[in-house]
Amino acid sequence: MRILRSVKVMQKITTNLRKRGKSIGFVPTMGALHAGHFSLIRQSRKENNYTAVSIFLNPTQFGPNEDYRRYPRNLKADATLCKKTGVDFIFNPARNQIYPKGYKTEIKIDKLSDLLCGKFRPGHFAAVATVVNKLFNIVEPDTAYFGQKDAQQAIIIQRMVKDLYMRLKIKVMPTIREPDGLAMSSRNNYLSASERRDAVVLYNALETAKTMIRQGISNPSKIILTMRKIILKKKSARIQYINIVDLNELKTVEKIQEKVLIALAIWIGKTRLIDNAIITPARN
Ligand code: PAJ
Repeated sequence: MRILRSVKVMQKITTNLRKRGKSIGFVPTMGALHAGHFSLIRQSRKENNYTAVSIFLNPTQFGPNEDYRRYPRNLKADATLCKKTGVDFIFNPARNQIYPKGYKTEIKIDKLSDLLCGKFRPGHFAAVATVVNKLFNIVEPDTAYFGQKDAQQAIIIQRMVKDLYMRLKIKVMPTIREPDGLAMSSRNNYLSASERRDAVVLYNALETAKTMIRQGISNPSKIILTMRKIILKKKSARIQYINIVDLNELKTVEKIQEKVLIALAIWIGKTRLIDNAIITPARN
């Protein structure tokens, strides 16, 4: 496994691989890797000749009061695990490689970026789309792998690839969870022991919503109210949003008749956690 820090060197390597007809799978990450990341990496290994993982804690996608400074960083441990999993290349650029002096270009994905998490994280998805676009141009993968854990991010990236005729495939893989149902996340590290126990309410609320929808309940307000009650039983929990939306435009649905995305962002103490589920209603 090689660890590359230079854009030029990374580009050269993948250009050569492509010339030799090799397929490249790519998993963009911000490091602090866990089983969620490794499920993407294993999928890429299965489907490609070579797998590249980027580890870049992208400063531009964090708001001024967000957790950029305390976000966990452990390149050494990440590299050991990547090596064990059969990763071929880690791309770990310094900030000025990705944002050299004078850079001015930003990718903006209208509408989708202002809903759900975007409402509370202005500029976040433009920054994500921009860095992902840069990384795609550097690695030039055949397929890039994203987690459904960040459903809005995956939808926005898919939209960008489609709108800009980008020549790669995007695969979205299921959310990997802890045994009690909590979605794996680098941010789970911030939780105290009691907060960690409370954090399972995100999953419990989603499971209850799933059951209600499958039982034929189609009124989103009713479902959201039940979810709120479950979540607010925990003293440490504060709701940022719970929304039931369609999968294309991310617009709030008035009646659940087709596949919907239930997305939520919940503060557990000082830690903001997100989770979601895609649910198909029962046929009448
Ligand atoms: P990061 O949070 O490190 O996540 C990297 C990838 O792992 C994303 O596609 C994310 O959805 C996926 N992932 C995280 N937790 C997961 C879980 N429990 N199950 C399955 N997949 C999971 O998302 C980012 O980094 C950044 O925004 C990035 C795309 C790298 C741009 O900076």
